[in-house]
Amino acid sequence: VVRSGAVGEVVASRTDRYRAGDMVSGLLGWQEYAVIDGGVTVLPPGTDPLVAMSVLGATGMTAYFGMTDVGRVGEGDVVVVSGAAGATGSVAGQVARRKGAAKVVGLAGDATKCAWLVAELGFDAAINYKTEHVARRLHEECPDGIDLYFDNVGGDILDACLGQLALRGRIVLCGAISSYNEQGRPKGPSNVYNLIIQRGRMEGFLILDYFDRFPSAQAEMAGWAAAGHMKHKVHVVEGLEHTPDALNLLFTGGNTGKVIVQL
Ligand SMILES: NC(=O)c1ccc[n+]([C@@H]2O[C@H](COP(=O)([O-])OP(=O)(O)OC[C@H]3O[C@@H](n4cnc5c(N)ncnc54)[C@H](OP(=O)(O)O)[C@@H]3O)[C@@H](O)[C@H]2O)c1
Repeated sequence: VVRSGAVGEVVASRTDRYRAGDMVSGLLGWQEYAVIDGGVTVLPPGTDPLVAMSVLGATGMTAYFGMTDVGRVGEGDVVVVSGAAGATGSVAGQVARRKGAAKVVGLAGDATKCAWLVAELGFDAAINYKTEHVARRLHEECPDGIDLYFDNVGGDILDACLGQLALRGRIVLCGAISSYNEQGRPKGPSNVYNLIIQRGRMEGFLILDYFDRFPSAQAEMAGWAAAGHMKHKVHVVEGLEHTPDALNLLFTGGNTGKVIVQL
């Protein structure tokens, strides 16, 4: 069974910990029924499963802890987010805003996504990396350099941001989706030396290390969502048999927000 996060309904239970009808969240995999012995969280009654899987789920938590814990976003930061219209990036930009960033710039792969980032999510600017000159546009939007770059894509965009890091700038290595399907050794960034010049820091992380801290982050994010400060989209694909197509959306950019397969 291919591993994945999911929300499911308990249909039968031989333990006191779960009752039939409970909605649970955990690594249930690509399957219609899962037999488990713990390792899932019971959702509070009334929780919207789509919200539990997006803003309050693994990608939302990745955005939260990547921005706060790894990126140490703070007042006055100029922040750049790639993959900004996706599940992780769309939340990451809004977390930066809530934590006092002075400017939030997103990169995405089409004009509709860029317009959504600025009009709906409160990004200050968006760059279409497929049609615009990324390095030049970053320089226009961040003339004094980038304090914090949240990297979902790696490759040339990471290199461009490395080259424009501000003094003591930080780069959060969250993902490198531009390289996941590359054959052979991926090309390394050429601007790494700029970390020396700018006394910068580049750090990777995995959300697996943050599970025990989810509850406090979820409470904060739920508060922002209730106040209208944490918006999101889900891209629902119906049917287990379409799960491979759903996964491919991440690579074609066919999704805006969180891709969820509904069975
Ligand atoms: N560190 C962790 O623990 C952790 C946890 C979850 C996710 N991640 C990483 O976070 C990133 C986002 O994951 P997600 O699940 O939230 O997916 P997502 O952002 O919802 O979807 C992926 C997006 O990546 C963009 N993309 C695809 N190929 C690209 C390329 N060659 N160059 C630039 N952008 C490209 C596409 O948008 P465009 O239209 O903009 O191209 C696509 O919509 C991934 O790299 C993933 O591996 C890391």
